[in-house]
Amino acid sequence: MRNLEGPGKEDNYKGIVRDMPPSPDENAENQLLSRDEILELLNSLLEAERAGARAVSSLSHQCNDTVDKETLHGIAVDEGRFCAMLTHHIVRFDGLPSLRAGEFLEKILALESFDEKLALLDRGQSWVVRKLQGVLPRIGDEKLQGDLLDMLKVHERNIEDAALLRHTR
Ligand SMILES: [Fe+2]
Repeated sequence: MRNLEGPGKEDNYKGIVRDMPPSPDENAENQLLSRDEILELLNSLLEAERAGARAVSSLSHQCNDTVDKETLHGIAVDEGRFCAMLTHHIVRFDGLPSLRAGEFLEKILALESFDEKLALLDRGQSWVVRKLQGVLPRIGDEKLQGDLLDMLKVHERNIEDAALLRHTR
């Protein structure tokens, strides 16, 4: 029987899952991620970005230099944008977006000096870059892969911007 309503959101989601490999047995590191693995990845990235957005935003409030403040604000906006993007894909894959923020946030807020906070921010952002570089070839969904590639490029650029900011202090 023909579906008169055409493909809806749910049908799209089923399509995504149907195209995925059933089990990652051999050469697991080269196979496409399963839906569960994708959801685990996206939620860990979401928690990291939420922590990043809050940490960078608090750093920018702590900063007196107008240019540095602007750079940090721009990075916080990017982190917030990626939270929305990741949440969108988690919902698209019929998952539940995590409401937690990564432990990284408390660690960064507990540090006294601005430079120490920036250094820890750099480590957090570098973790995201390594994670994305490792998983990008294993993402079978084109839209998600495109968005994660954008996230990777923006993180690489923001790491450079934050490092520059440290040199000028
Ligand atoms: Fe980030």
